[in-house]
Amino acid sequence: MDIAGVPLQGAYTTKAVRELVGSWRLTHRTVALVPTMGNLHQGHLSLMKIARERADRVVCSIFVNPTQFGAGEDFASYPRSLAADESMLAEQGLVDLVFAPDEKDIYPFGSEAAVKVSVPQLHGELCAASRPGHFEGVASVVLRLLGIVAPDVMVLGEKDYQQLVLLRRMVRDLQLPIEVVAGSTWRERDGLAMSSRNRYLSTSERRTAPKLHGELQRVREALLDGERDLRAVETQASRALQDAGFDPEYVEVRRAGDLSRPNGLESADDDLIVLAAAWLGKARLIDNLRI
Ligand code: PAF
Repeated sequence: MDIAGVPLQGAYTTKAVRELVGSWRLTHRTVALVPTMGNLHQGHLSLMKIARERADRVVCSIFVNPTQFGAGEDFASYPRSLAADESMLAEQGLVDLVFAPDEKDIYPFGSEAAVKVSVPQLHGELCAASRPGHFEGVASVVLRLLGIVAPDVMVLGEKDYQQLVLLRRMVRDLQLPIEVVAGSTWRERDGLAMSSRNRYLSTSERRTAPKLHGELQRVREALLDGERDLRAVETQASRALQDAGFDPEYVEVRRAGDLSRPNGLESADDDLIVLAAAWLGKARLIDNLRI
């Protein structure tokens, strides 16, 4: 397997990516896909590295998917930086192909009339409570990308943990021959999870933002110290976020495997995770931490 320094190629249509991946297949190369919406940062690059370790060829897709943004969300203003993303990938030398299709390529009949996939698990829960249709949009576009690229492996970040759980479920339920691999969340030095949306924070909000991670750490410590009242811990964290200037949507402790709600902490060896979403100014921040 080539480890680093591969030249980056670009494909901007479904036809072009299919031809290139098809030529790799002829020589029995395995393929990994890292789906992104671009505006790449260190967190994305760490996923490319995992992809490189898992397959002979790496494809990074860059597509700001309209169907996962709700009315009034930031689709129009979402940062688009294809040229900078391509230079970053070329410099990193771990990705063989950047696939940056336009909307017509992904949704030939238009995004409004597109076939949709829904993953009923966790319907209306966690991020799905405030973003109806979001995960349907994510699942629909990812299934299209998987159909186009036909990878052996797909690498996703743990920062979007609910997305990871739902896409794993989709792949299993549709029995797609694809291994889903997760990469850990990358953080700034002060603990803030890296995200393209961090750029919406003002200077003073940026100083406050790491408190989200701080509260998740406090929840973790409380549970590890023996606290058993989940509701109390969640409420306390939510209040602390409010006091710090956030507008929290949720702080919840769930089972890490399927994000189901634990009935309590009767079983000490439950594999748990605490997840949160909170607005800070114009930025909707999400984060999570394994207990
Ligand atoms: O996590 C993202 O960037 C997006 O939700 C994804 C998986 C690329 C689908 O558009």
